Amino acid sequence: MSTVIEMENVSKVFGKKRAVHSMSFVMERGHAVALLGPNGAGKTTSIAMMLGLTKPTSGRVRLFDGDPKTAAAHERIGVMLQEVSVPPRLSVRETIDMFRGFYPRPLPTDRLLQVSGLTEDQKTMAQKLSGGKMRRLQFTLALAGDPDVLFLDEPTVGMDVASRRAFWDEVRTFLRAGKTLMLTTHDLQEADMLADRIVVMQNGAVIADAPPESIKMQFGGRTVSFVAGSDIDFERLRRLPDVTDVQTVGRQVTVRTQNSDALLKTLILESWDIRDIQVHGGGLEDAFVRLTEEGGEAQ
Ligand SMILES: Nc1ncnc2c1ncn2[C@@H]1O[C@H](COP(=O)(O)OP(=O)(O)OP(=O)(O)O)[C@@H](O)[C@H]1O
Ligand SMILES: [Mg+2]
Repeated sequence: MSTVIEMENVSKVFGKKRAVHSMSFVMERGHAVALLGPNGAGKTTSIAMMLGLTKPTSGRVRLFDGDPKTAAAHERIGVMLQEVSVPPRLSVRETIDMFRGFYPRPLPTDRLLQVSGLTEDQKTMAQKLSGGKMRRLQFTLALAGDPDVLFLDEPTVGMDVASRRAFWDEVRTFLRAGKTLMLTTHDLQEADMLADRIVVMQNGAVIADAPPESIKMQFGGRTVSFVAGSDIDFERLRRLPDVTDVQTVGRQVTVRTQNSDALLKTLILESWDIRDIQVHGGGLEDAFVRLTEEGGEAQ
């Protein structure tokens, strides 16, 4: 497997702000990595350093085993940054054609228009597109050079449900061709669906780096909630082996557990006085919340 990105002990300081701290990271070809973290965690700064757009304060970054700033590296990548503008006074089609001109083997314009879902808007001035359509155009521009590696920084912000679905279908097609993806998103369901590796950043540092399944297993947990009858023994409930936390609001009880199946069996076999049982969670979002609340104890 060949290495696409390599970061060695990379830090970035803006004035007094330490945006990224001692980040070491390797991404191999064919992988789909989701870089997650709260606002200000350092995701965009990390991506900017991977692309050679921001110079690290210390440490070393390699893209395709070379300097990220070289043109040879850029011919093979497509980028959708968080904040971008399009050139003024060009229509959607002209903008796509202009970007195609930057690459040696661009995709056909009509295929790119189809990806963007903007065929009907091809004569519209790109700058006048709505927020969601602009995001779709930017995705298309990232694909213009038929890249091997895509960097997408919060790509779906502002997209409506249908555009979002069409967008993820395109990303899946891209990945099926064995290509490589670096994605940031605050939509953890999307990250879970697509990524084979989740990297969580907080306060500039990587606090977890694992496949989604292991992150969910380690930090996910589930909640079992029910309405308690008058006979319920809360002290015993708290002491059950699979219970990690119990919250009550009136008669409504929410129990956190690492093993909801075992807990449910106990509650039912012992005929606990409960009704309206519901099981929630176990998703990446739940794991993410706990992971970032714990503030990096995962490493
Ligand atoms: N050019 C800059 N000058 C000064 N501070 C900056 C600059 N760029 C980023 N920062 C700071 O560095 C930190 C990390 O910012 P970054 O944009 O990388 O976060 P992020 O994880 O992408 O957040 P978000 O989820 O909001 O996009 C923040 O505290 C931010 O204010
Ligand atoms: Mg960002």
